[in-house]
Amino acid sequence: MALMDVLLDEMRDLYSAENQLVKALPKMAKGAVDPAVKSLLKNHLEETKGQVQRLRDAFGILGKKPTGQHCNGMEGLLEEGQDALEKDEEGANKDLGICGASSRVEHYEIAGYTTAIGMAKALGLKDVVNLLNQNLAEEVAAAKAIFAGTKPLLRAALTEGDPTENEEESKPKSGKEKYSDKKSKEDEKKASASVSGKSR
Ligand SMILES: [Fe+2]
Ligand SMILES: [Fe+2]
Repeated sequence: MALMDVLLDEMRDLYSAENQLVKALPKMAKGAVDPAVKSLLKNHLEETKGQVQRLRDAFGILGKKPTGQHCNGMEGLLEEGQDALEKDEEGANKDLGICGASSRVEHYEIAGYTTAIGMAKALGLKDVVNLLNQNLAEEVAAAKAIFAGTKPLLRAALTEGDPTENEEESKPKSGKEKYSDKKSKEDEKKASASVSGKSR
């Protein structure tokens, strides 16, 4: 497999990821409580639509089609975003969950663009590098904005009720939560032999 093929795979993965986000960001914005978080997500939705277009332009330069690969990573991240939306939290606590999921999304995109840019540079594809760099700059700015947005939320979360209360034991678990609990125990079990055998 030539480097060009690997680059096209990376770019198609990003294209699928961005398209999934165009669908998901309005739901995240709608679910957010704080107007600042809402507008941050709405702004990034508009940027994301532009990113889809830039990726189309990059594929146009290469004379290739942008589809062909579904991004499973983004699908998983957006499932976690959906979990944050469905959580039985209110106010700042709810927004902190949404920001956590959004932050994961942005850093995943940053990793994808950084990788693709490295490959496009190596291949001397200046115009493609330029387009990908514009998307990367927006992802970096979005990640920073989300991080900055969590600061007032953390302050607010401390004043909303008793911030140290831990209700998870007393609440009945949904089917999804039970499944997640079971899988997390399997994750631990599969790793435990290697982890406990590690010298400290
Ligand atoms: Fe993006
Ligand atoms: Fe993004």
